[in-house]
Amino acid sequence: MNVELVGRVLSTLPEDDEHPYRTGPWRPQTTEWNADDLEVVEGEIPADLDGVYLRNTENPVHPAKKYYHPFDGDGMVHVVGFRDGKAFYRNRFVRTDGFLAEMESGGALWAGISEPPQIAERDGWGARTRMKDASSTDVVVHRGVALTSFYQCGDLYRLDPYALTDLGKESWNGRFPSDWGVSAHPKADERTGELLFFNYSKQAPYMKYGVVDENNDLVHYIDVPLPGPRLPHDMAFTENYAIMNDFPLFWDPEMLAKGVHAPKFHRDIPSRFAVIPRRGTTEQIRWFEAEPTYALHFVNAYEDGDEIVLDGFYQGDPEPDDIETGDRWRRAFRFLALDRLQARLHRWRLDLNTGLVKEQQLTDTITEFGMLNGRYAGQGYRYAYAATQAPGWFVFDGLVRHDLKDGTEERYTFGDGVYGSETAMAPKVGSAGEDDGYLVTITTDMNADASYCLVFDAARVADGPVCKLKLPERVSSGTHSTWAPGADLRRWRTSDDAAAAIGL
Ligand SMILES: [Fe+2]
Repeated sequence: MNVELVGRVLSTLPEDDEHPYRTGPWRPQTTEWNADDLEVVEGEIPADLDGVYLRNTENPVHPAKKYYHPFDGDGMVHVVGFRDGKAFYRNRFVRTDGFLAEMESGGALWAGISEPPQIAERDGWGARTRMKDASSTDVVVHRGVALTSFYQCGDLYRLDPYALTDLGKESWNGRFPSDWGVSAHPKADERTGELLFFNYSKQAPYMKYGVVDENNDLVHYIDVPLPGPRLPHDMAFTENYAIMNDFPLFWDPEMLAKGVHAPKFHRDIPSRFAVIPRRGTTEQIRWFEAEPTYALHFVNAYEDGDEIVLDGFYQGDPEPDDIETGDRWRRAFRFLALDRLQARLHRWRLDLNTGLVKEQQLTDTITEFGMLNGRYAGQGYRYAYAATQAPGWFVFDGLVRHDLKDGTEERYTFGDGVYGSETAMAPKVGSAGEDDGYLVTITTDMNADASYCLVFDAARVADGPVCKLKLPERVSSGTHSTWAPGADLRRWRTSDDAAAAIGL
């Protein structure tokens, strides 16, 4: 392994930090690395694995003004790239406007999600306003460029997906909606080259939906009027439709009128889904009502005759009670605990003829952060690959391959003290079927005080990894990730660009 320490940032976090989401598996890094020819610890790198696994991370550099929440951390992207039986690694901070300003000031300038916006020293970003756009939530690839995002809506920051070179902010040829920003989970449709997105705000109409085409032009942008400010996190799409949501978990309107942002689950208000023709108008939006819940993430959606099938993670208890015993941190962060939220894979069938919704719990197993073979996004599919969580904590202790056709599951547990990431599905070069590929994840191994990239055969998850690669140092636990096939990336590249510089 050839390792180069590229840089180090000055952290002002305390040496004796007690915050569970800044210590242990969540201990942030201050270092940026380049590593080539990664050391293979177990197995071998599959020769038909070609592309990059990108993972974003909440990696704080400064203490919060008052209360740190793990969603507030500064963005850091990790990439593990594969080709011809070799692998490399890079990691870089996302140099957002907020990150750079706080590096200059030497401390927090904005309010986190657990803090009142009023304590921010400057105007900022986000639907909640006066937050730092840390761009630490998700990473997607569109037109061969990695885009990092912020769940509260902000800019999209562009990175070279191999070298993680900072390419500045996305402008969409001058039409980026900077007033509202873009939410966490824009959807790249590999089949059309489009990027679908939504954003939200405390101002009417509260939500908008847009389409960016393969030329990077914002070709469609419409209002999706809601009854009031909402907290949508994800969307879905089919071949012909985009699907937005209006879940009954939102800021209490009376408290909001006093400037207090208190999310409340309204158990008597139905969930609603908006079905919009992908280039449709506001007038063409059709709303469908379903059981009250909150879903943080969807896996996929597709059309089946006159129905739209929508799969996501239904929360049985979106507002878990505070149990007045036990660890105070665990109590404080119970909204991050999938076992408390009772998050399970769920199917909604939206009937375009009747306007009615049929619902079905697909499994008893508690999972979230589901991924699929990207070529099947918006299409009929069979397999979802999701994360299991250590009870009570926002760390992933294993992964599950859900077979949605026969209802079976295959599970792999990382082992005590080892935590994974959202696991992306990488189709093999020349793959023949939906699960003909690999699952890729990065672990934080507290026993070995190290991090590894694990590669699984997607069809044989329970067998354990077929390859284990060592990274230069232990990295913080993290969540959202993506896979970008090498052939797709090379379509967008010239011979003298950064990829050539690192031998790909
Ligand atoms: Fe998310």
